[in-house]
Amino acid sequence: MNEAYEPLFQSITLRSGVELKNRIVMAPMTNFSSNPEGTVSDDEVAYYARRSGGVGTVITACTYVTENGKGFHGEFAAYDDAFIPSLRRLAAAIQERGAKAVLQIFHGGRSCPKELVPNGDVVSASSIPDEAEGAVVPRALEEAEVWDIVRAFGDATRRAIEAGYDGVEIHGANGYLIQQFFSPHSNRRTDAFGGSLEKRMTFPLAVVDEVQRVVREHAKGPFIVGYRFSPEEPTSPGITMDDTLSLVDALATKQLDYLHVSLMDFSSMPRSGEDTSVSRLTLIQNQVGGRVPVIGVGNIHTPTEALKAMQTGVPLIALGRELIMEPDWVEKVEQGRESEIAITLPKDARQRLVVPDPLWQAIMNAPGWFPVV
Ligand SMILES: Cc1cc2nc3c(=O)[nH]c(=O)nc-3n(C[C@H](O)[C@H](O)[C@H](O)COP(=O)(O)O)c2cc1C
Repeated sequence: MNEAYEPLFQSITLRSGVELKNRIVMAPMTNFSSNPEGTVSDDEVAYYARRSGGVGTVITACTYVTENGKGFHGEFAAYDDAFIPSLRRLAAAIQERGAKAVLQIFHGGRSCPKELVPNGDVVSASSIPDEAEGAVVPRALEEAEVWDIVRAFGDATRRAIEAGYDGVEIHGANGYLIQQFFSPHSNRRTDAFGGSLEKRMTFPLAVVDEVQRVVREHAKGPFIVGYRFSPEEPTSPGITMDDTLSLVDALATKQLDYLHVSLMDFSSMPRSGEDTSVSRLTLIQNQVGGRVPVIGVGNIHTPTEALKAMQTGVPLIALGRELIMEPDWVEKVEQGRESEIAITLPKDARQRLVVPDPLWQAIMNAPGWFPVV
């Protein structure tokens, strides 16, 4: 291995005591390929196994914690104990290849397609649709229902523990229910869950508290709890960089194992806020001040780029699209074969790369998403 890349291969022990063997994380990626009733499919298991040999940690695609939280066709479920064997199969496939398995837990809120939700009853913080054309107008959750969903995040965590995962990641990013509660665009509530910046944090922080309570009660050994968030929204009103720095500050006091910033580009700059001259990630890192490790992500393809990203002070680097294109990324760097790393996606490589067909079709039908050749 080129010695310069050694920092990527240092192990790190998280606050919970879980040791990750290196700094490369597979980013959570939905693959639209689970069975219709919500169990993981053979193709999906094969896809994860193929990518779990080198990375220290795999964060799974998101899984829905209540029946009305299903955000995607072909998403696997965690809303009932009946799904524990299915969840266990996925954890085992990842761990057998040497990576830690982290289950991303989620509720889609107003972003759920109507046809995936029982009785088409799409819910959110408030009755505000997103700004996409034809977006469903959701029903505002009653206060008791909000607490039911908080508990459902805890129940899904208990199932993850029983299924043998090394941890969970709370999906507070990408515009789904947790973010809908934090956003002044989608949250117009005037009860305990909305009305001020602090109150908009009530739901996200309650989910964290409940997940951690369940871990204390049920985990027999160290168990990771991470939190993912998106730093800014394009809408007005919408989450601003300053809002996010306040959330980050609150999360940094929560004894989490990591914070994970969801970005399409690692070095993207803030749209808003007091300082728009440094990257979003740097602002977040400065706010965290070393209190909790941060995972950086976004458009990182080569080990040189990963190293440069780590040199900004971020201890963990997630790769998403790159690991779809190059399942042996870590192994190739380790073996000094970095020049062989694929950074494009040949149209005819689906089977060779062990990518389930629904994910492949989604990629091929979204021009510009992946560098398809
Ligand atoms: C196919 C695909 C599915 C994704 N699904 C999820 C998801 O389930 N949860 C999530 O937090 N992010 C999801 N993302 C976002 C990625 O985790 C990541 O933040 C983004 O792709 C940028 O990283 P990259 O440039 O390394 O791909 C998805 C991305 C892709 C490409």
